[in-house]
Amino acid sequence: MKLLVIGSGGREHALVWKLAQSPHVTQLWCAPGNAGIGLERLARNGARVECVNLGAEDLPKLLAFAQEKKAELTVVGPDNPLPLGIVDLFQKHELRIWGPNQQAAQFEASKVFAHRFMAKYGIPTARAGTFSNPKPAKAFAASLGGRCVVKADGLALGKGVLICANQVEAKRAVDEIMVSQAFGAAGARVVIQEFLEGPEVSLHALCDGKTAKLFPTAQDHKRALDGDLGLNTGGMGAYSPTPFLTETQLAETASKILEPFMRGCVAEGIDYRGILYPGVMLTPDGPKVLEFNARFGDPETQVYLTRLENDLVELLDASVSGALASVELKWRPLASVCVVMASGGYPGQYVKGNAITGLAAANALPNVSVFHAGTARVGEHVVTNGGRVLGVTALGPDLKAAQAAAYDAVEKIHFEGAQFRRDIAAKGLTISR
Ligand code: AMP
Ligand code: GLY
Repeated sequence: MKLLVIGSGGREHALVWKLAQSPHVTQLWCAPGNAGIGLERLARNGARVECVNLGAEDLPKLLAFAQEKKAELTVVGPDNPLPLGIVDLFQKHELRIWGPNQQAAQFEASKVFAHRFMAKYGIPTARAGTFSNPKPAKAFAASLGGRCVVKADGLALGKGVLICANQVEAKRAVDEIMVSQAFGAAGARVVIQEFLEGPEVSLHALCDGKTAKLFPTAQDHKRALDGDLGLNTGGMGAYSPTPFLTETQLAETASKILEPFMRGCVAEGIDYRGILYPGVMLTPDGPKVLEFNARFGDPETQVYLTRLENDLVELLDASVSGALASVELKWRPLASVCVVMASGGYPGQYVKGNAITGLAAANALPNVSVFHAGTARVGEHVVTNGGRVLGVTALGPDLKAAQAAAYDAVEKIHFEGAQFRRDIAAKGLTISR
């Protein structure tokens, strides 16, 4: 089977790495890919994965490429192409593509849409209101005592969520999003949620329009610095499984979220095929959904796919064709930890082009996979080319062993200004089950 993967981050490297292991794959392109993706080889025939210099949002060129190469399945990694309608476009031209269509992608692309859906179908979430005018928005924030989260409706590069401790901050947040339009049109409407506390976990379920197959839990680390301090980032590390839910609690949590979700999709005529990734807060009053994402998490994908035993091509194919009911997901009974190495200054300003050394030594360690995110090739060298640079991922018999193995690998890698958290998976180690 000939595959095209769209995207260029650590998530996409993990997807390509796993897809390349499938005996079904004879050729694999990644648009635009990165230096690490371009080094992967297919298990079936040893062929190199080819990076193609096309942007993930350049729909006409991606379509033309898939048509020219006769790609038999296109896999969409990042969120941006989904609400642009890449799935609908490919389907219109009779090309097989994995991911939610434009209508289904609204769960991530519009927080107002997601909130209304959750309210209508009884999915547990934060107490919230949706607003298109600043005045009632501020009044609602005041009714929550100012302790709230103000969210721009649309996609805002992960930055449109402002956490407020009091009424002054809440008013400022509403003004910033709705009046100053700090996130442009994405802030024409807002969702304001009560502030929730508790451990936050990532859930993932693979969906085929009718059936949702749940993954184990993972936890991301969104803040830049140890101890969850510093600015919000795309994610500085992840681990799976987490100790916060027993198998039974996970099944209960999933049924409270996924059952009404699928029921609501059927009622609304939404054909949800792809990954559904709810961000969930485990509050003292039970699990509550903070947001829905319509794609794999980054860096959750790196820890999930290193644990997944199934052939990923078969899973994605079943998701596209509505055949997931008969599929059983199988996970290695191991823990996986991913430590993100970022450029100095990230998520603020940073320089690109610093040479990276030690990649081969790190990759040679047992049970270690170094996934590239922001990297590029310059001659013989791999250099930094983004905020998040690498996702150093290791498996171990338990969380502690996986964490130690991941940090041993991190120690071998060097580039100027490298910044990483030293406490990835630490929260998971404070609770033992
Ligand atoms: P979102 O993009 O909506 O998931 O928000 C980004 C991050 O903000 C989440 O991962 C949480 O850490 C935090 N957050 C979002 N909503 C809430 C909430 N209602 N209460 C507390 N923290 C929140
Ligand atoms: N792990 C955070 C995200 O993918 O949005």
